Amino acid sequence: MRVNHAGEIAAQALYHGQALAARSAQTRELLLKAAAEESDHLAWCEERLRELQSRPSLLNPFWYAGSLAIGALAASLGDRISLGFVAETERQVEGHLDEHLNRLPERDARSRAIVQAMRADEMRHGASARDAGATELPAPVRALMRHTARIMTGAAYWM
Ligand SMILES: [Fe+2]
Ligand SMILES: [Fe+2]
Repeated sequence: MRVNHAGEIAAQALYHGQALAARSAQTRELLLKAAAEESDHLAWCEERLRELQSRPSLLNPFWYAGSLAIGALAASLGDRISLGFVAETERQVEGHLDEHLNRLPERDARSRAIVQAMRADEMRHGASARDAGATELPAPVRALMRHTARIMTGAAYWM
């Protein structure tokens, strides 16, 4: 749950950064709406972490700052690329949540319900970005994003 929590911080920051530099009002609105839902996810994860007597990642301020900068950079490349970034981010998050669901014990119904609800929202975020004209990002960019996410999730797990 700590990794999910850190991921939601990063997602929210990405979309805030992208919204700041979005070209059209429509794209900005889509990004802010997704960011608001990431903020709900963040609250669910935070509550669950508390219930499990755990704590959020100490690195969260870095995830926020780094992701905000990456989001602004992605948006500076134009709205279609920016939306492509959303679509790819959400696809990877969905994959991560699937893996997490496989590892979560059946008896932890509460964590499972949270992850499932987030997964449904992330799929919707990805679909709305694609509907709004997202371009498919080049394979090396997608690989770089996967690599970055792996470093982040690894670090957030331990710290
Ligand atoms: Fe989310
Ligand atoms: Fe999302």
